[in-house]
Amino acid sequence: MNIRVEQGRARKYPCDLLLLFSFEFPEPLEGVIHEVDLEWKGFISTLMKQGDFKGELNQCRLLYTHGAFPSQRVVLTGLGKREEFDLERWRVASSRAGQFIRDLGMKRFAFPIKKFSGLSEEELTESFVTGMLLGVYQFNELKTLEREKIKEVEEVFILGETAEEVRAIGEGLRTGRIISEAVCMARDLVNGPSNRVTPTVIAEKARQIAKEHAMEVEVLEVSQAETLGMGACVAVAKGSQEPGKFIIREYNKGEGLNTIALVGKGITFDSGGISIKPAERMEQMKGDMSGAASVLAIMKIASELQLPYHLVGIMPATENLPSGKAYKPGDVLKTLSGQTVEVISTDAEGRLILSDALTYSLRYQPKAVVDLATLTGAVVVALGDYVIGLFGNDEPLIKRAEEASHKTGEKVWRLPLWEEYLDYLKSDVADFRNVGTRSAGAIIGGIFLSRFVKKTPWVHLDIAGTAYNEKERSYLPKGGTGSGIRLVVQMLRDWK
Ligand code: BES
Ligand code: ZN
Ligand code: ZN
Repeated sequence: MNIRVEQGRARKYPCDLLLLFSFEFPEPLEGVIHEVDLEWKGFISTLMKQGDFKGELNQCRLLYTHGAFPSQRVVLTGLGKREEFDLERWRVASSRAGQFIRDLGMKRFAFPIKKFSGLSEEELTESFVTGMLLGVYQFNELKTLEREKIKEVEEVFILGETAEEVRAIGEGLRTGRIISEAVCMARDLVNGPSNRVTPTVIAEKARQIAKEHAMEVEVLEVSQAETLGMGACVAVAKGSQEPGKFIIREYNKGEGLNTIALVGKGITFDSGGISIKPAERMEQMKGDMSGAASVLAIMKIASELQLPYHLVGIMPATENLPSGKAYKPGDVLKTLSGQTVEVISTDAEGRLILSDALTYSLRYQPKAVVDLATLTGAVVVALGDYVIGLFGNDEPLIKRAEEASHKTGEKVWRLPLWEEYLDYLKSDVADFRNVGTRSAGAIIGGIFLSRFVKKTPWVHLDIAGTAYNEKERSYLPKGGTGSGIRLVVQMLRDWK
């Protein structure tokens, strides 16, 4: 979808379709929609008064103008009650409008933006573009049949009236586009099946983005990881024919800026290994590299927005498969930190590869470490599938995540990491076991990770519930969602 800014007035602008929003009746029409309504001899306000279009949140309605003004059609979209309105509702409504227009089979439309509800043109545009681009995302790459039936909006013109509005809209458009396109890139990687998105492919993607964005990349092979002493990463990678990769990417290296490390779980397929998973829905485990995909996307955005940090992205990538070479329950692994771990379940592989990755991140002496991982099924049991599990060892950093969450609409909920939980991880033969009992599964995952960050401020985002949707919800499609990207980017944008 190509989105452009144009200078123009909605009621004078010739186009196939004009998109307009309104609050719920009896809220009076104001701004652009009011002007259009006047031009249209009160047609919209009559519809609303008669209850044919009430302006309820996400309600959409197609109208023909019959020459009343230059646009051929109008789509009205409801914003719901004014007092409940916020940027998240705006994103949701924008997304709904985009899907509605796409499903009509329309290829282009125009949309006027003017500040309202105390929000600037720039903010409104950024969120409009985000809702729109994320909402109309589809993953059709691998379909060969009936491609002509795929509907796509090709062009959107955002209209501003004054030069100043056009400038502000342009800024919002740029930011919204940079963020959304990176989220869609991550979704493509998550939706890509594991026979296509292998650890090697993730490493190549990291290299490609790095080249385009003047970042540095280093990819360690399993043999190098072994030499370095990453016993946990090596153990998980052993069972697979597909070579594992330990990917390190740096943005703004050597500029003397504050360092923030981002660590992403990159299991390209999680069968559970010898502790094999049930077959039902196992195909979704192609998405177990969502954390790594999110880290790739966050760094792409950071460089395009030129955020002033030294970012280190660390993505251990491998499959988790059973085989004659696979690691086994009962094995004891020596991690990069020197601590030993008794493997109780080979399906708790995420925390193993992350333990080495977190230890590795400390080499850069980061001010903060953020990890993103589809770590536990238990977080889905606890919080459902639209809330990210938030954990950490540092109050200010946790607050940053919560504040960013309020702004981006990516919900987070904090769970505790009290020391008592460590009892669950006592092992008879090693420093820790890699799983506890059935209790507090998401927390146990988090407390395990906490052993590998020492005192460095750290947050852990368990995105197991949010990274992959079984059904579409607002601007989050079925399949990969790109979870955590907008949240972490917002944390970085607001960092002071
Ligand atoms: N990748 C899974 C977690 C997961 C579950 C992600 C559902 C997305 C949706 C992880 O590696 C795993 O298998 N965790 C185990 C841990 C258990 C063995 C302690 C789990 O959640 O069952
Ligand atoms: Zn697993
Ligand atoms: Zn996993």
